[in-house]
Amino acid sequence: MQKRTLGNSGLEVSAIGLGCMGLSFGYGPATERQQAITLIRTAYERGVTFFDSAEAYGPYTNEELLGEALAPIRDKVVIATKFGFDFNGEGGQSGMNSRPQHIRAVAEAALKRLKTDVIDLFYQHRVDPAVPIEDVAGTVKDLITEGKVKHFGLSEAGTQTIRRAHAVQPVTALQSEYSLWWREPEGDILPVLEELGIGFVPFSPLGKGFLTGAINAQTTFDAKDFRNSVPRFSTDARAANQALVDLLGTIAANKKVTPAQIALAWLLAQKPWIVPIPGTTKLNRLEENIGAAAVTLSDGDLTAIEQAVSKIDIQGARYSAEHQARINR
Ligand SMILES: NC(=O)c1ccc[n+]([C@@H]2O[C@H](COP(=O)([O-])OP(=O)(O)OC[C@H]3O[C@@H](n4cnc5c(N)ncnc54)[C@H](OP(=O)(O)O)[C@@H]3O)[C@@H](O)[C@H]2O)c1
Repeated sequence: MQKRTLGNSGLEVSAIGLGCMGLSFGYGPATERQQAITLIRTAYERGVTFFDSAEAYGPYTNEELLGEALAPIRDKVVIATKFGFDFNGEGGQSGMNSRPQHIRAVAEAALKRLKTDVIDLFYQHRVDPAVPIEDVAGTVKDLITEGKVKHFGLSEAGTQTIRRAHAVQPVTALQSEYSLWWREPEGDILPVLEELGIGFVPFSPLGKGFLTGAINAQTTFDAKDFRNSVPRFSTDARAANQALVDLLGTIAANKKVTPAQIALAWLLAQKPWIVPIPGTTKLNRLEENIGAAAVTLSDGDLTAIEQAVSKIDIQGARYSAEHQARINR
């Protein structure tokens, strides 16, 4: 697979990474461990060198999974993980915590779980209103100086936060939601990233599965699936948003590719420093998603997609009100 460089940082990764969250967390029961390890190692064999995790995925178990799966190829891959929450006894998030001491403790614990001596990319998972971003950036800067972290990232941060953080410790990548049905970053985020030379890692690039066409109004989710609480995944919203999936299906059929591949190729076509991280628990879908790196959309294709998508009014908020409240901007 082709490589891309995240911003000015020189961090080179495969054009498409692997989002590993769903293997442990968020979309129902965790994948059986050996199957998950096989999936992660197959991704590497097919050219993926960028693996995304977080302390919160599990919590802890996803980092442990990556630690085991990637140990034999540790020096050939880029591992990204995230800090920024406290957890209660049941493993639920009990609030944000980006206090410097906590960031240091999470880094030490993540290094052990990931079975490594350096975290390639360490993101703040959510901006913590209780801690000045300069203190967060300064703490990661110290971890970089100590050789425990290589690159600093932010997730779902706004432009002022990005600028303030970047002034203390250059930010290598912003990871925020971006896809054909969530285009907010095109407003003021992408221009600031371009100005500052920061790479962009779109999460949920397949619209949490919806853009692939594998989900419709009749789909039922596991009781533990996070999508049960997402307004955009209510039955009514799914029925209304089917128009987007149908459109992607038509475009994909014309190009003899799949809707998932159109969704990922569209992201890749936006900027050369964008690296989507689709997540899957299935080998056939992994192959399909990786195949998107070879799909080129012409200017004509992009214009046709733009014109068609602009006529569709997407229904439903991307997060519940409670979840949205954690995004402090
Ligand atoms: N920074 C943050 O706050 C944040 C938030 C959310 C996610 N993330 C990161 O971003 C990664 C990706 O996001 P995401 O997992 O939320 O959403 P996504 O990649 O948009 O979609 C994942 C969902 O799509 C399904 N899927 C994947 N490929 C498919 C295909 N080719 N055909 C049909 N269905 C397919 C998966 O189901 P199967 O497993 O059944 O294939 C899964 O349910 C996560 O793994 C995580 O690392 C970060």
